[in-house]
Amino acid sequence: MAHIQLKNISKTFGNHTALTGLNLDIGDGEFFVLLGETGAGKTTTLRMIAGLEKPTEGQVFIDGVDVANWGAAERDVALVLQQYSLYPRYTVRQNLEFPLKPKIRRLPDAEIKDRVDRAARTLRIEHLLDRKTDRLSGGEMQRVSIGRAIVRKPRVFLMDEPLSALDAKLREALRTELKNLQMQLGATFLFVTHDQIEAMSMGDKVGVLNHGRIVQTGTPYEIYNNPRDTYVASFVGSPPMNLIDGKLVNGRAVMAPLNFELPFEGRAKTSGATDGRPLVFGIRPEDVYLESGAPVEARVHDVENHGVEKILTLRVGDAMLRATVPARTDVEIEQPVRFAWDPDKVVLFDKGSGINLRHAG
Ligand SMILES: Nc1ncnc2c1ncn2[C@@H]1O[C@H](COP(=O)(O)OP(=O)(O)OP(=O)(O)O)[C@@H](O)[C@H]1O
Ligand SMILES: [Mg+2]
Repeated sequence: MAHIQLKNISKTFGNHTALTGLNLDIGDGEFFVLLGETGAGKTTTLRMIAGLEKPTEGQVFIDGVDVANWGAAERDVALVLQQYSLYPRYTVRQNLEFPLKPKIRRLPDAEIKDRVDRAARTLRIEHLLDRKTDRLSGGEMQRVSIGRAIVRKPRVFLMDEPLSALDAKLREALRTELKNLQMQLGATFLFVTHDQIEAMSMGDKVGVLNHGRIVQTGTPYEIYNNPRDTYVASFVGSPPMNLIDGKLVNGRAVMAPLNFELPFEGRAKTSGATDGRPLVFGIRPEDVYLESGAPVEARVHDVENHGVEKILTLRVGDAMLRATVPARTDVEIEQPVRFAWDPDKVVLFDKGSGINLRHAG
């Protein structure tokens, strides 16, 4: 268990800047998810904590100690990768034993057996212990890789997209298992992913990384409901938040160039926006609703059936807007509908900077 801090980390490779001014604070026993698109700098961040890469600038602290001069082995962190690196001609048990049998500091046999059996029980791979690892399914192999990290009882688990090679069902199952595992071990987890659903469902805290910079850190709730800028707003959520250009005029949201208006009366949430200031109005699809007397008319452009709900794409002029509605809502393509929004749920962004007005200043 450990507390990890990155202070003002920058990393350049030649003339390419991978990370800029990165600050992270990962609490002891926290499940922290680093979320970012491909190339954002996620793996680089993990490798720096693991001691496989040196920061160009800044410091890494583990439990308050600057680990700049510590090698990877001394840091006592375990790295689980996307591609499992198991020894194919050995059994699962042998693969789990390897990390515990370095020439120096070898553990007693009874201790090794105990740790392997416990890890196998935790990951539900006891029945596979005597099987060669090349006879395992992808999900089983990934469990064994995680097992190889667990047996070492490291202070920190670093996981680099460990589930992304698995099919959807298995990914979902392992998500839950990893989360349970983390709670059971009480260990500090830093889990990296480009999958926002994974991030939102697993993280105690989520850090959103964009082009080597942390854009926002917060609970999944904060990130979803109060995204710091339009980047986070459109990255998190599926379908993403609707972002519509417009301005406030006399307590109404006037959308330009779309030319429709929605009420925005007497809300404290204008966050100091003055009338006429160019804004982006952010509204989640679930906060847009259809109603016969609602203020704006649109056409149904597309309908996606998702079982419990439908995701409608509404067309107003030549702009599109997503609305999540109950599955029983009966609509057809090209049908005219009327919609409104929940003004309490609207997030206002500055048009120029893209920053959420509640975060500005
Ligand atoms: N050893 C290296 N030499 C040069 N450039 C590198 C090196 N390692 C990483 N980079 C660059 O740094 C940036 C960040 O890479 P990184 O691997 O951390 O991204 P990532 O967020 O893990 O992406 P992905 O989701 O694709 O794994 C990328 O532009 C990458 O090309
Ligand atoms: Mg990566």
